[in-house]
Amino acid sequence: MKVLGIETSCDETSAAVADGPRRVLSNVIHTQIAQHQPYGGVVPEVAARSHVERLPGIVEEAMRRAAAGWDGLDAVAVTSGPGLATSLLVGVAAAKAFAIRTGRPLISVHHLDGHLYSVFLDPAFPEPLRGAEGLALLVSGGHTSLVRIRDGRRAGLLGATLDDAAGEALDKGAKLMGLGYPGGPAVEKTAAGGDRDRHAFPRGLGPGTQNAPCGGMRRDLCFSFSGLKTALLYHLRGHPEDLDPARGLPHLAASYQEAVVDALIARVRRAADLTRPAFLACAGGVARNRRLREKLGMFAASAGLPLMLAPPEFCTDNAGMIAAAAAAGLGTPVDPPGALEIRPTWPLPVEEGA
Ligand code: KG4
Ligand code: ZN
Repeated sequence: MKVLGIETSCDETSAAVADGPRRVLSNVIHTQIAQHQPYGGVVPEVAARSHVERLPGIVEEAMRRAAAGWDGLDAVAVTSGPGLATSLLVGVAAAKAFAIRTGRPLISVHHLDGHLYSVFLDPAFPEPLRGAEGLALLVSGGHTSLVRIRDGRRAGLLGATLDDAAGEALDKGAKLMGLGYPGGPAVEKTAAGGDRDRHAFPRGLGPGTQNAPCGGMRRDLCFSFSGLKTALLYHLRGHPEDLDPARGLPHLAASYQEAVVDALIARVRRAADLTRPAFLACAGGVARNRRLREKLGMFAASAGLPLMLAPPEFCTDNAGMIAAAAAAGLGTPVDPPGALEIRPTWPLPVEEGA
C-alpha cells in the first residue's frame, strides 16, 4: 500500500511516500527555522504562509524521490491535529485536493500517533516485541506524555505535562540564556563540555502544580517544567555573569538540560515500575537529544528493558511517520474527503483506571 503523507502542523513543511507500514521511500522536510529565528519562536502567520509557498514543491519532490506516480498511490494521509490551526489548514486543504483529484481515500492522522509510530520505523525493532506492550516517552515542543504502546499504536495515556512541554522548557530556557531558537539543539550544543552538576535546578512538580488537576492521570506520572524555567530566570537575575559564553554559559546550559532530562527519567522509572512494560521507547523532537538518549539507555540497561528510540530523522516533525502510520492502519479514513476538519486541540485519551 503506497501512501502519500503530508505534515504541516507547526514549522516544518513535509511530504513523504511510504510503501507499507515499514518502508518510507521518501521523506522531504523543509524546516522554517530561519524564518522564525528573528522572532525567537514560531510565528503562526509566517508558518502558514510558508507552508502555502513550499508545500506543492515539497510534495512534488517527495513523489519524485520515491519514484512514485500518482496512479500508483493507494491513499493520501494528513496530520489533521493537534497543531497550529492555520498551519494544519494548509496541509489538510492540499491533502483533500490530492485525494479528490486522484480518487484515493483520505486518511486523517493524529500528530502524536505519528510520533509514537516513528519508534516502529527502526529497522532493528525486534519482531517479537512489536506486539508486546511497551512504555513510550513522547517528548516534543508541544507535548510531553507517557503512553502505553502496542503494535505501533497507543494503548492508553499514563501521564502528561501539567504546564510546559519538555521541548518548550528547553526553548524558553534557551531564550533566557540568549541561545536562540529552536532551543533544544542550541542548549545541547552549548552544554557540551559544561559541568552539569554546577547548578541544582528543580526536577519535581513545581509548588504551583501540587494541587493542579491531573485529568484522571496519576500525579507521580505527570510532568511540570514551569518551575524550572522560573528557577533559571531567578538564577540569571542574581548571576548575570553566568551568561558569559567563555565561562558560565556551558555549565548553565548543561545543568539546565540535565534537570529536564532527570525530570523525564524519574517519571519513566516510576511508570516502568508500575506498568512492567516489555520495552521502553522514546519519540518526538526532544528524543534527538543525546543526553536524554544516553540516560534512557542507562536506565533501560539497569532495568533490563530493551530500549527502542525513534531514528533521529523521524524524531522532529516529518511526514514519513504520518504516511507510515496511515499505512499501518492508524488513521481514520474520511469520506467524502471534503468532510475532514482540522483539530488544533486533540487530546490523547486517558488510560482507564490509571
Ligand atoms: O516533534 P517536534 O519537531 O515538534 C513538535 O511536535 O513540537 O519537536 C520540536 C522540539 C523543540 O522544542 C526543539 O527544541 C526540540 O524538539 N528539539 C530538541 C533537539 N532537537 C529538537 N531538544 C533537545 N535536543 C535536541 N537535539
Ligand atoms: Zn511533532
